[in-house]
Amino acid sequence: MRVLLGISGGIAAYKSAELVRLLTRQGCDVRVVMTEAATQFISPLTFQALSAHPVHTQLLDANQENAMGHINLARWADLFLIAPATANCLAKFSYGLADDLLSTLYLAVECPVFIAPAMNQAMWHKPTTQENINRLIRHGMTIIGPDAGSQACGDIGPGRMTEPEAIVQKLCIQNNPGILQGKKILITAGPTREKLDPIRYITNRSSGKMGYALAEQAQQLGAQVTLISGPVVLAAPEHVNTVLVESAEEMYTAVMQHIADQDIMIAAAAVADYTPVNVKAEKIKTQNDQTELQLHKTKDIVASVASLTNKPFTVGFAAETENLKQYAQDKLTRKNLDMIAANWVGQKEGGFDSAVNALQVYWQNGQKIFPMTNKSQLANQLLALIAEKLHA
Ligand code: C5P
Repeated sequence: MRVLLGISGGIAAYKSAELVRLLTRQGCDVRVVMTEAATQFISPLTFQALSAHPVHTQLLDANQENAMGHINLARWADLFLIAPATANCLAKFSYGLADDLLSTLYLAVECPVFIAPAMNQAMWHKPTTQENINRLIRHGMTIIGPDAGSQACGDIGPGRMTEPEAIVQKLCIQNNPGILQGKKILITAGPTREKLDPIRYITNRSSGKMGYALAEQAQQLGAQVTLISGPVVLAAPEHVNTVLVESAEEMYTAVMQHIADQDIMIAAAAVADYTPVNVKAEKIKTQNDQTELQLHKTKDIVASVASLTNKPFTVGFAAETENLKQYAQDKLTRKNLDMIAANWVGQKEGGFDSAVNALQVYWQNGQKIFPMTNKSQLANQLLALIAEKLHA
């Protein structure tokens, strides 16, 4: 995707450097346009280095126009993102003033336009600014944010530019609208709890964040989502049919009750592989120095789904501390999966209970690597890949 990024003169301009990095990591080709004021906050050289292309700053500059004129730049873009957009920038867009390169490009582009405002909270609240925003929305522009919080000027309130990761996520969703429209997806998430007695159980460090991010993103991409979740501290995602369970056995039963008609199953849960043979009715008393627990295997939920005659497109997860690729590919075959998403655990960053992760995804005769990013974005990337394979 070819993204034209416009940067106007606000302190949030420093965040746009991260925005360019995230967009290029998503595989976008990014060209940067800065206003004169923006160059006072951050050097064009930074953006030239990050985007690997010269930065456009002047409307009436023969050299820049020779390289790629403003009309060609406008035609080149698949998407025009302005972040940060100052109050002045919004006013110019709203009234069609075209006295510099950025505002001229706004008039010249025919692609979708996304605007991430950033300004002092009083400037944001000013009726003039609100009218400008409403006009831009009526004209079909998408406004992202602003977020509320403490501001560079010391004020507290709305006006902070939305964080780069959230902006990129919004762009991804808007540009894949409905890739899962009409699809039914069942997702398992979180750990399971295997009871030993009324107060003790065996569990693991899964937080459920990846499964919940998948459920939220799938819903936003148009899918009808059922989430079967083990015990977690996360709020149930909106518009998702969430079924809460505790043990591996309960998760198995819930999945089997809901699996008919599903197009896709994603097993993100860290299901206990073993469960105690006997659950004691009373608290186990402390006696010997050593004791033994007898465990038996749980039913493999994802493998059971993958063995159904009308099996959905089935995706498993593999969290490993060693031999990631080999173990993941082995699970792909052994469990008859269509795809497996593998990630390292026990590393400095990512994995269980972390807000970020990186994935190595394998399917028959193919693989794709998603570098470390937040779990929402990762979920979006994985779902886009699943949709692509499903349609293929
Ligand atoms: O074999 P292992 O537990 O490492 O496999 C991981 C994958 O299998 C995950 O997708 C997990 O959700 C799924 N699984 C399952 N039922 C089990 C054990 C694992 O669905 N009892």
